Amino acid sequence: MSKYKRTLITSALPYANGPVHIGHLAGVYVPADIYARYLRLKGEEVVFVGGSDEHGVPITLKAKNEGVTPQDVVDKYHAMIKDSFSRLGISFDVYSRTSAPIHYETASEFFRKLYDNGKFTEKTTEQYFDEENQQFLADRYIVGTCPKCGFEKAYGDQCESCGTSLSPTELISPRSMLSGNTPVLKETRHWYLPLDQYEPWLKEWILEGHTEWKPNVYGQCKSWIDSGLLPRAVTRDLEWGVPVPVEDAPGKVLYVWFDAPIGYISATRELTPDWEKYWKDPETRLLHFIGKDNIVFHCIIFPVMLKAEGSYILPENVPANEFLNLEGDKISTSRNWAVWLHEYLEEFPGKQDVLKYALTANAPETKDNDFTWKDFQARNNNELVAILGNFVNRAMVLTEKYFSGIVPERGKTTTYDEETLNAVAQIRNEIEKSLDNFRFREAQKNAMDLARLGNKYLADEEPWKVIKTDPERVRTILNVCLQVTANLTIAMEPFLPFSMDKLRHFLNLEKLEWQMLGEKNLIRAGAKLNPSQLLFEKIEDKEIEKQVRKLLDTKKANEMAASTAAPAKDYITFDQFGAMDIRTGTVIEAEKVAKTKKLLRLKIDTGIDKRTVVSGIAEYYTPEEMVGRQVCILVNLEPKPLKGIESHGMILCAQDADGRLVLVSPADLVRNGSEVK
Ligand code: 2FM
Ligand code: ZN
Repeated sequence: MSKYKRTLITSALPYANGPVHIGHLAGVYVPADIYARYLRLKGEEVVFVGGSDEHGVPITLKAKNEGVTPQDVVDKYHAMIKDSFSRLGISFDVYSRTSAPIHYETASEFFRKLYDNGKFTEKTTEQYFDEENQQFLADRYIVGTCPKCGFEKAYGDQCESCGTSLSPTELISPRSMLSGNTPVLKETRHWYLPLDQYEPWLKEWILEGHTEWKPNVYGQCKSWIDSGLLPRAVTRDLEWGVPVPVEDAPGKVLYVWFDAPIGYISATRELTPDWEKYWKDPETRLLHFIGKDNIVFHCIIFPVMLKAEGSYILPENVPANEFLNLEGDKISTSRNWAVWLHEYLEEFPGKQDVLKYALTANAPETKDNDFTWKDFQARNNNELVAILGNFVNRAMVLTEKYFSGIVPERGKTTTYDEETLNAVAQIRNEIEKSLDNFRFREAQKNAMDLARLGNKYLADEEPWKVIKTDPERVRTILNVCLQVTANLTIAMEPFLPFSMDKLRHFLNLEKLEWQMLGEKNLIRAGAKLNPSQLLFEKIEDKEIEKQVRKLLDTKKANEMAASTAAPAKDYITFDQFGAMDIRTGTVIEAEKVAKTKKLLRLKIDTGIDKRTVVSGIAEYYTPEEMVGRQVCILVNLEPKPLKGIESHGMILCAQDADGRLVLVSPADLVRNGSEVK
């Protein structure tokens, strides 16, 4: 028996400065949602909270760059994130936001209680200040060179290149993000959470008490604790945030990482007046679903805050995931290297479950993983369509065909029938074991084993053959198949909720509770099925190619933005320019130069003559593409032998940022031999 009566699931509050992408989903929201649905299906008392994190420097910087207020930024993205989560079917009980009045109240009360009970230390230190903007430069308002790895754009709180967490004064050659100027040091007073004082307690609570946490989580905690904790400032000199709720603190707000986790409490308060039972009753099990960059905040800093406050429970587990990459590259909002949820929902309507399935199948649970569109397509076509959809469809269609859609009786059963039905309960055990240990990809695989079981049974029993000789036996076979199908509606519900809704409709079944998984008579003989359709549809190559092309375009745009044009050359005279005889001409023959990768031999009608030109464009244009094309050619370039062929001129090309050559051609067709000037 568990010592818990209920579970409170929190999922990291995404910053409201951009849309949500597949990295967020795979790391946090999809596993949290599966877990919440699983517990609900088991009839457990569960609350699943989420919300937008609306403070922090990146939001104010974005607002400044766009000439709008921080509130405008968070209003836009909060609405967008909330809407896309709801369309994906992330089943939050409440999705709140940290600019909500209830949050200001909760965060202020929390700070005030720690302040009144002397839990903070107060310190005046010298911090960087931008004289032009008259502003202290906290966190991401300052950039400089990382003292650990030498990366030149490290932020005041973290180096994104090597992951080291930093403080602004550690940066080499610091610069203000506001003015670009070198900042000066100026005294300021702040409140600190003395993490050092909690070290012995953290050792006992985590290092001794939570050895069952995932190795990646436990390992990070251990390395933080072992390297010694320092007092951490929980206030900032900024305008945007929850004002520090003490009399003598003008212009100071709570540090975003102080107020954000309190956002979980505010969200619960928004949900129910009975919120305290979720936060203060030791019979509540608190779980934080997060990504690995949030581990220290959820395992060390927030627990120290809760412990210092004194009346709250602590997290029982923090099943943090590693990162998901996209097509081999780190997901990045600023480089637009992501699959954005709101775009996915537009481009793949009705395929919410497919995305969840692919992300779970490839979840970065123990190490960073890679999302590729090819894998996404394969998960859909080879698993959802070919295994699950195929089994369900055959069970439904055969029942429609042989028994007019009425569930047939199960007559005398064979050992194999019984084994098949008994295997369902074993599969249930496997799924439970995996889910109870936060191993979602394994759990989903276990659940798919049920469809695999059904397919194997059908392939072995071959009702389409048996119908000719023993129609009575087919009744039993299809009854077994439909029992497996009905069990699938339970086993798959946490993972594929939209599709299981559809399947229940085909089967004319109500939603069944988890405890019924494994029962052999979930669907009653004599019940009438509804006409079925395909549960999943194949995703064609062209849809995937479109997505891959979109990413290639992004990569290209990023390369272009990052590359700088070569500096201008020295002046030439007009006469020097006039000495170049550039004409228009049409390619009349083209072939690859043997034994070379780059060269094409072209025959060009220059209007003056028909001449041979050897050009280094074979990697970018095929001979077929060249024939008939009008180009610009420098005709008075000294002839030169290239690979034994005399070349009489040079074709004009523009060289792109990635080195690619692109032909320069007249915008409209002109007479060959026209002078280009
Ligand atoms: O890393 C992030 O995206 C943070 N906004 C997560 C905050 S989680 C919680 F503490 F609010
Ligand atoms: Zn670094």
